[in-house]
Amino acid sequence: MAILTYSDEKRLFRGNQENFIDLIRTGEEKGVLVYVMTTSDFKLTGKSAVGFSYHFQTKSWKKELLPLPHVIYNRIPYRKFELLPEVQQIIQTCMKHGQIQFFNPAFFNKWTLFEWLNKSKETQEFIPTTQKLTTSDELEKLLQKHPSLYLKPIRGKAGKGIMKVSRVQDKSKSRRFQLSVQDKTKSHISRYTNVVQLWTQIQDMIGTQDYIMQQGITLSNYKQRPFDLRVLVQKNGLGEWNIAGVGARLAGKMSITTHVPRGGSIDDPAKLLGAGFGTLGTRKILRRAKRVALIIAKQIEKSSGTMLGEMSMDLGVDGNGQIWFFEANSKPMKFDEPHIRKKSLDNLILYCIHLSKISAKKPKAAGSVKKKASKSAPQKASR
Ligand SMILES: Nc1ncnc2c1ncn2[C@@H]1O[C@H](COP(=O)(O)OP(=O)(O)O)[C@@H](O)[C@H]1O
Ligand SMILES: [Mg+2]
Repeated sequence: MAILTYSDEKRLFRGNQENFIDLIRTGEEKGVLVYVMTTSDFKLTGKSAVGFSYHFQTKSWKKELLPLPHVIYNRIPYRKFELLPEVQQIIQTCMKHGQIQFFNPAFFNKWTLFEWLNKSKETQEFIPTTQKLTTSDELEKLLQKHPSLYLKPIRGKAGKGIMKVSRVQDKSKSRRFQLSVQDKTKSHISRYTNVVQLWTQIQDMIGTQDYIMQQGITLSNYKQRPFDLRVLVQKNGLGEWNIAGVGARLAGKMSITTHVPRGGSIDDPAKLLGAGFGTLGTRKILRRAKRVALIIAKQIEKSSGTMLGEMSMDLGVDGNGQIWFFEANSKPMKFDEPHIRKKSLDNLILYCIHLSKISAKKPKAAGSVKKKASKSAPQKASR
């Protein structure tokens, strides 16, 4: 298996090296040769490929000729790399390759995710009402339907650029809108008398970026700090979707999101849910969250028209125990919970073994297209 990433002059290549090393080790345990391939050394003709193998004894990377991979695991970090024409071309080559299985071809974006999930009856109910952020009139209309809205960059991650707008009543009844803007670890709050003022401020913050506005969900909280669930969904050794684990992220005291770098913390979902829903309620909610995550993963894969092997999902739980989908990520960050971490590495290698068996069965004819990808036009990286 080749882990595909972007090259870097100083560090050889981008991406989380520790993560790659863990995967290489897990591969070794299960008899799979795993190495790192960069977009600048990419070549799939001939019998071998150029890649970086890891030498555990010397703790060093060595660039060498390695056997062509059966499977390519896409870990190109950042959309800006993925969108480069030369990288796009490599992705297309991988997707169309007759003998190589390539999964997770592109980043998701929050608007297409919404469109994909909103068109299926099965997933619709878990999606907060979402629209593109276009005009102050539209913002005002949606704000009349919901007491608070989340504004999020379509291509954002890790809480960057997230804002929350709420309707408020202050004593003089003059300041009707509150805007919370997520900064490094806190959110800054300001108030506005009318939508025009609010809109001016929002436009100032978003510049030319595309945004969505989304119904704000009142998350369940633990000691007054809201939390949400992070679910890792992966395919297993049979090529079937399953849940690698469910973690929880507790928001920082002054934060409107739950990201750890923004003051949030990792915690045990059963403990956090248990405080509000009791043991039985918690069991029910976790079971429901897992079921919902699987339904959503299948719908995302189907709508994307591409082959996917894993994704992480942010799910909210409201005061009634209802599950809400916030987003899915096709390049999941490493989970720090040891049991989820182990399962995630095992799943990836087992899925890779599963895929390599499919590769072996593929006809040698050039230009044969993968079963899943052939259902619709190969998907371009999300823009
Ligand atoms: N509609 C919403 N209602 C309530 N909380 C939300 C909503 N959308 C996002 N959040 C909170 O903000 C966090 C970040 O949102 P998310 O959509 O995952 O963006 P990012 O890509 O920046 O991680 C979520 O994990 C959740 O805690
Ligand atoms: Mg998120």
